[in-house]
Order: sequence, then C-alpha cells, then structure tokens
Amino acid sequence: MLDGKKILFSGMQATGSLHIGNYLGALKNWVSLSNDYECFYSVVDMHSITIRQDPQELRNNARNILMIYIAAGLDPIKNCIYYQSHVPAHAELSWILNCFTYMGELNRMTQFKDKSSKHDTNINVGLYTYPVLQAADILLYQADAVPVGKDQLQHLELCRDVAHRFNAIYGDVFTIPEPSLGKAGAKIRSLQEPTKKMSKSDENLNAAIFLLDDRDTIIRKFKKAVTDNFANIKYDAENQPGIANLMDIYAVLGEKTIAQVESEFAGKGYGDFKLAVGETVADALKPFRERFYELKEDKAYIDTIIKNNAEKAAYTANKTLRKVQKKIGFPISN
Ligand code: TYM
Repeated sequence: MLDGKKILFSGMQATGSLHIGNYLGALKNWVSLSNDYECFYSVVDMHSITIRQDPQELRNNARNILMIYIAAGLDPIKNCIYYQSHVPAHAELSWILNCFTYMGELNRMTQFKDKSSKHDTNINVGLYTYPVLQAADILLYQADAVPVGKDQLQHLELCRDVAHRFNAIYGDVFTIPEPSLGKAGAKIRSLQEPTKKMSKSDENLNAAIFLLDDRDTIIRKFKKAVTDNFANIKYDAENQPGIANLMDIYAVLGEKTIAQVESEFAGKGYGDFKLAVGETVADALKPFRERFYELKEDKAYIDTIIKNNAEKAAYTANKTLRKVQKKIGFPISN
C-alpha cells in the first residue's frame, strides 16, 4: 500500500515502435486501472539491451514510448512514468535476486528460448537473466497488480516464486504480485500470420499496426490482413484465427461484445468487415497520435516529468532495497 492505495507496476521495452497488441494487451488497461492504484509505469530500457541496440535509436525509442504512455491517457503527475535506467536500485536488486533464482527455472522460460533462437550469435547472460530483472522491477515497488499481455504470464509466475522463496527465508519482505490480464486484448495476433502474436520485431511491416501509423496505412494494412475461405464472420479462434483476431480488435476498440460483432456482420463479406475494423482503429488512434505530436514539441515539459518521476521512483525503490540489504546481512552504512 502507498498513500492508502494498492500498488501497480508495469513496463514496456524501449525497442521499436509500440503496436496495437501492446496497446490492447497492456496500455489500455493501464489507463483504466490508473485511478484505482498508485501506479509505476517504467520504460524498461535496461531490458532492451539484451538485444543489440543502436544508441541513438534506443534513446529516441525510449523517449517516444514514455510520451506514448502519456498520449494514451496516463497522467504523468498522478502516475510515476520513468526510465528504468534512471533508478539504479533495479540493477542492485536484480543481482540479489539472481542469487535466489535457479538456472533450471530460467531454462524453462519460453521467451528466452524464442529470443535466443532469433539472435543466435548473441545469446548473452542478460537475455538469460532477463526475467530476474523483471522480478526486481516489480518487487522493488511492492506491487500488488501487474497488468500485462498473456506472453508475460510465465515471467510473472517466476517473479512470484522468487518472492515466495525470499519471504520464506527472511520474513514478509515482498508483496506477492498478481498478474492482471485484459479481457479480449490479452493476445493480439499478427495480421499476416494469425497463429503468431503481433510482435514489434516482425520483419513484415504489414503484420502489425503501429500506434503512430497514419489513417491510410492502418486501413491498407487491415485490407491486406490474412483471413480464410470460410466467408463467415463467426468467432472461431481455432479454425479462423485471422477473423477471430480482427473481431477481438474491433470489439475492444468499438466497445462491443463478440456477439454484437457477429450480428452486425452476419451475411456481410470480409471486405466490408476489414474496412470497418480499419476505420474503427484509425478513429480510435487519431486523438492519441495528435497528442503524441503535441507532446513531442514540448521538450521542457517532458524533461521535467522525466526528472521528477525518476526521483519519485527511486525513493520508493530504495526503501525496499535497503530493507532487503539489511535482511540479507549487508553491512549498514552510517
Ligand atoms: P513488451 O515490451 O514485449 O510488451 C509490453 C506489453 O505489451 C504486451 N504485449 C501484447 N499483448 C497482447 N498482444 C500482443 N501481441 C502483445 N505483444 C506484447 C506484453 O504482454 C506487455 O504487457 N518483459 C516485458 C517488459 C517488462 C515488464 C516488467 C512488464 C519488464 N519488466 C515488469 C511488466 C512488469 C516485455 O518484454 O514487454
């Protein structure tokens, strides 16, 4: 608890541009939960360097993502929006938690397996211990809730296991966090290969709708979305994953139920449906895109947010870190 409110933590990597999977799986829920919790939203730039990054690009992406959080509706005064690398306690707790995490646990992580097969010339130790840094992120803030998409559930489970292990030895040091999944957007799929999740790193640019794509690009990408030959707008994720994905996107952004979407498009063709999805997404992202470009102009405002929030995050994080250091027996400095 902080100021009488439960605590929420979440983060996104500073790689590439955010897409509607990130938005519907995470960011949209962050905004709706932000009144009920004391929230920490990090741009996790330290996680990003587990894959080789161009320095200038990393810096630009990190700043864009921070502005995207704000443009999506998170008030940066009420919510602590900050860069992970500005709070050294993340790295310090991560080291300590490394000593409470088993290699067998990390060997099972599917994200590590995926990423190491994609980047087989750079299977670095950071990629391997990535989930430990993620656990440190969450546990430093004593988070009760962590809103994420489905692909992060395994990391969250590991975080809970490590926290339980530490607490069993040293007493109740860490709050055990609960994952919080959005209803329909927890797994948005690629528009080109709908059996796979939508991903920032997909080489096919038509596979993802990026939050900063313009209206024509959005509509064009939906027109090209891969569907099937059933000519039937019914929700069947097993046999019609492409159509089910478009229905999920349309239902969440249009605030409709899947049943309403089915009846709205009963007897209509895929062409009409894809156009309606494209227009709905373009309309939903328009105000957001406009706000983003306004924020981009206001350098001084963003710089102040970055500085103030780093201090606020460090204050809370250091409280937990000091407690942990004391518990494990590090000498106390006077
Ligand atoms: P990242 O940067 O890959 O993704 C950010 C958030 O977006 C969600 N997401 C999706 N949701 C639905 N459909 C998709 N296709 C899709 N793709 C991504 C992710 O589940 C995530 O919630 N390891 C994390 C970042 C992280 C973190 C943390 C998250 C670091 N520390 C602490 C929570 C708490 C990651 O790589 O997310």
